[in-house]
Amino acid sequence: MQHSDVLDVSAFHRAAFTSVRDVGDLKFICAAPLSHLPCGLRILNAGYRCVVMERWKGRVALVTGASVGIGAAIAKELVRHGMKVMGCARDVEKIQKLAAECQTAGHSGVLVPFKCDLSNEEEILSMFSVIKAQHKGVDVCINNAGLAHPDSLLNGKTSGWRNMLDVNVVALSICTREAYQSMKERNVDDGHIIHINSMSGHRVPPGSSHFYCATKYAVTALTEGLRQELREANTHIRATCISPGLVETEFAARLLKDDPEKAAVVYSKYKPLQAIDVADAVTYVLSAPPHVQIGDVQMRPVEQLV
Ligand SMILES: NC(=O)c1ccc[n+]([C@@H]2O[C@H](COP(=O)([O-])OP(=O)(O)OC[C@H]3O[C@@H](n4cnc5c(N)ncnc54)[C@H](OP(=O)(O)O)[C@@H]3O)[C@@H](O)[C@H]2O)c1
Repeated sequence: MQHSDVLDVSAFHRAAFTSVRDVGDLKFICAAPLSHLPCGLRILNAGYRCVVMERWKGRVALVTGASVGIGAAIAKELVRHGMKVMGCARDVEKIQKLAAECQTAGHSGVLVPFKCDLSNEEEILSMFSVIKAQHKGVDVCINNAGLAHPDSLLNGKTSGWRNMLDVNVVALSICTREAYQSMKERNVDDGHIIHINSMSGHRVPPGSSHFYCATKYAVTALTEGLRQELREANTHIRATCISPGLVETEFAARLLKDDPEKAAVVYSKYKPLQAIDVADAVTYVLSAPPHVQIGDVQMRPVEQLV
């Protein structure tokens, strides 16, 4: 934002409907009288979030499934806010590319790529060991990796069910346990564990992958169970899930890889959420004051019915 924008009312409108990009922008806006800010509150709200994200600067976040889609958007946002992000997935080259993009963009944080197949516990544990040795441990754990197979309950393959269970539920639980142990051994009392759930963790749409829904209902239960165990452990570590409706990512193409025509129209019926919308929800949740625990953020495209 240029200095001349301070007196340019339309620039404030623009800023209000985008967001304040860094603390410098906020200081700049605060220098203007509020009477010059038709959308001042909205800007200050975005700016407030930007300032409170300062407390996560230099802290370590693990983002699973960071190679594409929602995980890539979350990783990039957290790097922009100055965090040290450990991004894992099987396709590590995509995360390496994203890390280079973050560097070129001049973001204040860093993205460290890890190759990890989350359906293999040994690989998860060895990733946590490397994070411990090289970065001390994890302060924020974002369990994002997840997938659906089209295996129905009446005719589906056991291998498809098992893979969904392994990645969406078991790997999420292993990462949660390991992240909590990492926080505990370093006396980190303000950590945060965020599960990327789904609206399918709250209702079962007809014609959907019902086993996938079951894994996401498990994530709903795991979030509340985690919150209760964290209370029993007397920590201030927070547990949250974010439950999006339809988001435009590779998800549908992967689910419907045997039916590319069907996959092609999934995101064309109405305007879906974008990965950055979910990443924004992560920033919102992380930037809540430390005494505020957001349990679940349910978010749908406006035109989505179920
Ligand atoms: N898209 C939607 O409409 C939607 C709606 C609600 C909730 N969600 C949830 O959002 C999360 C992210 O989904 P997305 O839409 O971003 O899907 P996506 O574009 O298909 O990305 C899935 C991510 O998960 C990773 N992954 C899958 N299996 C893995 C494994 N075995 N080991 C390591 N990483 C693995 C993938 O990385 P590699 O393939 O490189 O390993 C990829 O980074 C999921 O939990 C999903 O259930 C999505």
